[in-house]
Formats: sequence, C-alpha cells, structure tokens
Amino acid sequence: MKILVTGGCGYIGSHTVVELIDAGHKVCILDNLSNSSSLVLDRIEKITGTKPEFFKGDIKSKDDLNDVFNLANFDCVIHFAGLKAVGESVEKPLEYYENNVCGTINLLQAMREHNCNNIIFSSSATVYGSPKSNPIFEDFPKLKATNPYGETKSVIEDILIDNAKANANFNAVLLRYFNPIGAHKSGLIGEDPKGIPNNLMPYITQVAVGKLERLGVFGNDYNTVDGTGVRDYIHVVDLSLGHLASLKCFDLDNNPQIEKSNCHIYNLGTGKGTSVLELVDAFESANDIEIPYEICPRRAGDIDECFANCDKAFKELGWKTKFNIVDMANDSWNWQINNPQGYQL
Ligand code: NAD
Ligand code: WQD
Repeated sequence: MKILVTGGCGYIGSHTVVELIDAGHKVCILDNLSNSSSLVLDRIEKITGTKPEFFKGDIKSKDDLNDVFNLANFDCVIHFAGLKAVGESVEKPLEYYENNVCGTINLLQAMREHNCNNIIFSSSATVYGSPKSNPIFEDFPKLKATNPYGETKSVIEDILIDNAKANANFNAVLLRYFNPIGAHKSGLIGEDPKGIPNNLMPYITQVAVGKLERLGVFGNDYNTVDGTGVRDYIHVVDLSLGHLASLKCFDLDNNPQIEKSNCHIYNLGTGKGTSVLELVDAFESANDIEIPYEICPRRAGDIDECFANCDKAFKELGWKTKFNIVDMANDSWNWQINNPQGYQL
C-alpha cells in the first residue's frame, strides 16, 4: 500500500514507519517537526535500508495538505500528528483544539477531495476517563476527559464516527493506545521528550542516565496493589504492529473475522496492569541500576488504575503483544544510554 503517515517523525509514528517499510509498504511522512527531528529519517533508513519520503508540512495548512495529496494516490492515512502534553493542554486549550481537532478536519477534507477513504487514528485510553472497572472493554462508555488534550481525542473520535455514518465509502479505525513505552531494539529511535518528561518511563531513564536526580512517585495511597498508580504499559513496537494489523480493516472481503463495518475501535494494550513501583523495580532489575525515588502528593487528574481488555484486537486482527515489562525496560534504557541527549547530536 501507499500510506501517508502524519506525525511520522514522532515517537510512535517513527516506529510504525519502520514496521510498515519492513512489511513492504510505501510510506510518505507529513510532519511539521514541532515535536520531532528530521534526523529520525536517517535513523529509519539505517534500520530498514529505505529512507521514507518526507514532506515538511502542517495539518493546520490546507495548502500543505493539498500539496502532499498531489504527490501520490494514497491508499490510506495513518494519523499520528497531534500535540500530546496533558499539562500544556490545560494552559493552551485553543492551541490544542486548533492543532488536533481543526487539523484533523482539514486532513479529512483533503482526503475527501483527493478520494482517499481510509484512515487509522491515534486515539487514547484517556477517552475512558476514570473507568467503573478494569479491564476496560471497547464498549465502555466514554467519560468526560480531565483535560483538553483528552477532550480533543474524544471529539476527533466523534468526528470520525459521524463521517463514517455519513459516507459508506469512508473507513475509519480508532486505536485507543494505553501507555506506550520502550524503543526499537536497535537503540536508533525512541522517545525524545522536550524538557522535563511528563511521563513515567522517560523520567525513569533520565534519572538512570543522571540528567534528573530522583523520581517523584505521585501518590502511594491509591486503591491498588501497592498504593501507586497502575497502568497498562505496551511496547511501542507491539503498538506499531497493531497499526499494521489494522490495515486489514480496509480489506474486509479477505478478512471475514472482522465485523462488517466502516468504523472500528480497538484497545491496544497488553491487558496487564503494572504499578509505578513495579515498573521502577522492573527497570532496576533489568538494567542493574538503582532509581532513587520519593513519594510525592498525587498528580491532579490521575486515576488509580487503567488496563485494557484486548480480546477484540486479537479476535479480529490476529494481533497480540509479544514484549513484556522487562523487554520494555531494557529497550527504553538501550535507547536512552545510546542517545543521552535524544536526537540532539
Ligand atoms: P510525538 O509528539 O512524538 O509525535 C507527534 C508528531 O506529530 C511529532 O513528530 C510532531 O512534530 C507532529 N505534529 C504535531 N502537530 C503537527 C501538525 N500540526 N502538523 C504536522 N505534524 C504535527 O507523539 P507520539 O507519542 O508519537 O504520539 C503520536 C500520537 O499518538 C499523538 O496523536 C498522540 O496524541 C497519540 N497518543 C500518544 C500516546 C503516548 O503516550 N505517547 C498515548 C495515546 C495516544
Ligand atoms: C503513569 C503513572 C503517574 C510520572 C498519560 C496521558 C495519557 C496518555 C499516556 C496520550 C501514573 C505516575 C508519572 C512521574 C509518577 N497519553 N508517575 N511520576 O498519566 O497514565 O497517561 O500518557 O494519550 O493521555 O495522561 O501516564 O506516564 O504520565 O503516568 O509517579 O514522574 O506514573 O501518577 O500513575 P498516564 P504517565
């Protein structure tokens, strides 16, 4: 397939591009590099032997989108481009709604104009809010997100669902990611947060490499196994392979196990919850490094526990995860130690 990958220079996008190229697909990346580096393109070439086509552009610009769709007849779009920092979204809601929601509407309009009818969208477990129980199934109700970032994901899902209802030719796959961590085993691509990381694993690896002094554990009085927050961490390579498997939704005739619908929703997680202290422990044992930490107050908006039921993705797409928490800890560290400054040389 010829696939347009928006946000393909970012963390999850770059890993997915590697798997797409390895599977024989032709990839063009559209990215404005607002949260990534063009060095990623050389790294992808090192891993796969192929440099993906790259178009520096912005989904907020209808002209950029028109130009990129004039490059080729794309069979589908995998849409990663978006702003994703929860805290920043509280400070800058308009920027988040404009970039994520308006950007996606522009993209969908450009797809319609250029007769491209298939899209896979990066959604998030954040749309479930604070779930009534765990594991979380796809048919759980969406609850109000606790921040504008989460709300953009929920609104975009609704837009895609409505567009699929209105157009029988349009096909959408909504992938709800749980907590992606880890990196490609080569150590050539990985997560490169700007400034102090908001998320747990990059914080741990930056403590391990000596950039940060100690980890703050946000609360130890949750209703969980050891009082710290429980999440469903998924290796980014497994997550990337979930996108590859989702392409089957655009070929229903040859995949009778997939529900006959033009809009599909799948959880992508491992189905297993891990607490903050369990993740710290796994990292320490896997890499023989001590991570100093202190217990801090809860972080606003955090929930106790969140993990997925992923039976639907297995039954319909034949997808399941291969990597465990030790693999994730190893690969996150391998990336960090080989790139202490991320993509900055
Ligand atoms: P990332 O920031 O590493 O990648 C996003 C990419 O999109 C970046 O390369 C950035 O430069 C690009 N981008 C942003 N706005 C753009 C615009 N207007 N035009 C063109 N390019 C633009 O983030 P990621 O972790 O790889 O996440 C990818 C997607 O998955 C995002 O939509 C994110 O919301 C979603 N998601 C991420 C997580 C997570 O924990 N990382 C969890 C659930 C969902
Ligand atoms: C995990 C656990 C924290 C940092 C976020 C977004 C979500 C999705 C994935 C995009 C929690 C604890 C964290 C630290 C800590 N992104 N923690 N000290 O909050 O589950 O999800 O990323 O869609 O929308 O909200 O992930 O990695 O921030 O936190 O104790 O320095 O680690 O309290 O229990 P989260 P996280």
